[in-house]
Amino acid sequence: MATSQVVIFGASGDLTGRKLIPSLLRNFAEGALRDDIQVIGVSRSEKSDKQWRDELDAWIPASLKDAWVTFRAHLTWCQANSANPEHMEHLEHHLDSLARDRGARPEEVGRLFYLALAPSLFDPTVQALDVRRMLECTPGSKVGWRRVVVEKPFGVDLESARALNQALLRYLREEQIFRIDHYLGKETVQNILSLRFQNAIFEPLWSRKHVESVEISVCETVAMEGRRGEYYDKAGATRDMLQNHVLQVLSLVAMEPPSSMRADAIRNEKVKVLDALRAFTEHDIMEHVVRAQYTSSATRDRGYLDEYGVNPKSETETYIAVRALIDNWRWSGVPFMLRTGKALSKRYTEVVLNFRTPPLDLLNGPQPGDVCPLRPNRLRLLIQPQEGVRLSFLVKQPGAGMIMRYSELGFDYSDLETGETPDAYQRLLLDALEGNATLFIRGDEVEAAWRFVDAIRHGWNHSSAPVHTYPAGSMGPRIANELYQGCEGTWGTGPEDA
Ligand code: BG6
Repeated sequence: MATSQVVIFGASGDLTGRKLIPSLLRNFAEGALRDDIQVIGVSRSEKSDKQWRDELDAWIPASLKDAWVTFRAHLTWCQANSANPEHMEHLEHHLDSLARDRGARPEEVGRLFYLALAPSLFDPTVQALDVRRMLECTPGSKVGWRRVVVEKPFGVDLESARALNQALLRYLREEQIFRIDHYLGKETVQNILSLRFQNAIFEPLWSRKHVESVEISVCETVAMEGRRGEYYDKAGATRDMLQNHVLQVLSLVAMEPPSSMRADAIRNEKVKVLDALRAFTEHDIMEHVVRAQYTSSATRDRGYLDEYGVNPKSETETYIAVRALIDNWRWSGVPFMLRTGKALSKRYTEVVLNFRTPPLDLLNGPQPGDVCPLRPNRLRLLIQPQEGVRLSFLVKQPGAGMIMRYSELGFDYSDLETGETPDAYQRLLLDALEGNATLFIRGDEVEAAWRFVDAIRHGWNHSSAPVHTYPAGSMGPRIANELYQGCEGTWGTGPEDA
């Protein structure tokens, strides 16, 4: 990779210290980044390079302290208002002179502009860069490339996402835009693709023929820490988690095998699944969606409505459960049970494929034709905090009679002894620097996901769908169990020790 510059707009925000710098540093320490990498922090705050580096000290994990001593010299600060083209001139001079100091020609240096900014600044920032012609580059060239990483949220509904896509496409080609969803950078999420497409045994089972229902649960114990309520009250679980992370996981679980691992081959298949998600009518909402807010409880003295920054009359959901349907040949009629919420009793993310029960219970059925009372087979993809895969099946309990009991085949990432799994941002930053867009979201994917979510939100606005409650520290409202009606079982309980 030729010399690269990573320009972080909004570098005073906590994402920079929490994720971006430690991830770049780790890549550097592991030799994945060349030692001519330059990282430029940009924001309106005035500070020296040293001040910025010193501020970041606090975010550096102990294991990376040695590498940090070398890496911090690669960081410089540039005070600028990203939406102001004149300030961008100042930034351009800063970048050019850094390149020249390293003996590189500025036009040959690759530049990654990372928008860690409030969404309202995405368009003005890209526009200001365009005024200075700082985004121009030759398509497909390995040198002098210009790319833009856009953080979430990407719009607040279909209309705003479409407008943002159109605005960005005025100044950039699609292949220059890297819309980030950090769930795609998680090893265990990527493993969905390898499990499905590098093993021949799962794919023949991976359809309505053998799968009765699929569950995707993203459960969190965190609530509205710090000033989170101010943002969250405008977003809710649907926009904050369902539209992006949950639907991205769903698209990987449900997509058709791609013809290759090229970014567009994969993204073409993902967008087809999102397009096939049934958009609910106002009537469907009552049967297919449950929304709820947490209330105070023995484990938390404040309910959602008492949180800082939250409107005391807010109807914003901190929990959503959906019985989603994918109208295509592979999945027609198979409910995809989606669930995410804050202030729950357990933190875990898991995908569960519930396979159909055998047609007859030959061993235990008192009557001929009885259906097997136990569901033998379940494939669980443990995304976090436990990372692994579990396949359950029934075995005969030793002894008299034919009594069945569960057994499990399992794999744990921790058994691989490869150390900690890398942070999602570490992988994603490297991919963006290398121009690999596979784990980034294409414009049409974002729009398809919003179409599904907008239908739910529209239904809420035009129906009497209640906002249920659940005590903080529980697993959500009981009524969400009703979404399982017609299928066996109910929501999983996650790993034992989560
Ligand atoms: C963010 C959401 O995108 O993802 C947060 O805005 C949420 O509300 C977070 O807590 C969850 O990420 P992770 O990686 O901790 O599961």
